[in-house]
Amino acid sequence: MTDFDGAQLSRLASRLTSPQSFVGVLGNLRRDAVELLGGNPASEALPAEALNASVHELLADPARATAALRYSGPRGLDEFVAWLAAREGIDPARIVVTNGGLHALSLVTQALLDAGDSVVTDDPIFPIALRVLQLTGAHAVPVPVGRDGLDVEALERLLAEGVRPRAVYTVADFQNPTGAVLGARARTRLVELAERFGFVVLSDNPYRTSRFAGEDVPDFPTDSDRVVRINTFAKSLGPGLRLGWLALPSWLVQPVLNIRARTDQHPSTFTQAAILGVVRPAGAFDRILADLSALHHSRATTLATSLRTHLAGHIEAERPDGGFFIWARLLDPALSLEPLHHAALAHGTNFSRGTSFAVPGGHDHDRHLRLGFSDIPDTDLEEAVTRLAAAVSTAGGGA
Ligand SMILES: Cc1ncc(COP(=O)(O)O)c(C=O)c1O
Repeated sequence: MTDFDGAQLSRLASRLTSPQSFVGVLGNLRRDAVELLGGNPASEALPAEALNASVHELLADPARATAALRYSGPRGLDEFVAWLAAREGIDPARIVVTNGGLHALSLVTQALLDAGDSVVTDDPIFPIALRVLQLTGAHAVPVPVGRDGLDVEALERLLAEGVRPRAVYTVADFQNPTGAVLGARARTRLVELAERFGFVVLSDNPYRTSRFAGEDVPDFPTDSDRVVRINTFAKSLGPGLRLGWLALPSWLVQPVLNIRARTDQHPSTFTQAAILGVVRPAGAFDRILADLSALHHSRATTLATSLRTHLAGHIEAERPDGGFFIWARLLDPALSLEPLHHAALAHGTNFSRGTSFAVPGGHDHDRHLRLGFSDIPDTDLEEAVTRLAAAVSTAGGGA
């Protein structure tokens, strides 16, 4: 073995640093820590039994087993694509099955963005999506996300000043990390702007199906040739599957497939065939979503109630109507994020610091905490909040 020689790396690899973790561990976490991190759906409601039966049936039939273990087409299995297209209400020719949502984003950004292009993004943003966008060499232009999602009026002001983005990346439903939902009028306006200024709306919407209260907001239209929908089963069937899909305007399908033809060729035939057996029986997917929602609803309510009970005056937290996170704010002027994070780790809990979701040139989010609840039982959530309250005292929170 020769020594590692950085000079052998590509220019791209040599300029990349190891990404910081969302939580940026600052100390030793206690072995009995109850972490409010999240990202995984409630594991109790994932369809492990149905998947077991589906895989068993698939492999017990020699012809189906052989087909599931062979190479297949670049857009995905026909039957699976047809099922997705029916749910999306679009022509199956516009669907491309991917290895999860981030892979979908990566394919589409490689097809759209060049180094030096501007891409408008949510501020705060899901940091892995930011990394995917930045890998193209594009320049992220932050636009604030408020209670009602991306501030489309702020975007209009940027456009009026002459900013010309190639794309606008936003998470319209239960945005990660804020939980905000973009209103119907703002969605319509964003698409009008996209059509007028020629940018593409990259709608990354993994939490749309995770609503547990309130009314659905009508989504972006399916017929605009300026809207790309990025989807995943990560928040409904489990992120470990690495299964997602793109719903593309027709003009973008072949360019995306041209990128794919030079990378992974096609998504896993086996995973698609197995998942089809889980989701295709009438109503099966909606039942899984309903079971998940019931658990997420209870957990979000427990976390929000517990925060109000133990931390009123110190931390402000509202229960969202869906998604996996509470975006809480430090109210108490005696508190600041870093000392609180140190104290939280020492007291056996953890959270994602708001600063992890910042976009260069945007806001710091150093008064915010992202608290995950989706895969944490109610009693553990209560215990975590008790520990967070102890951390608030240690970190100097006024009595
Ligand atoms: C906004 C957003 N996009 C994409 C993803 C990841 O999707 P996947 O695991 O399918 O790549 C997540 C996961 O947390 C997310 O919050």
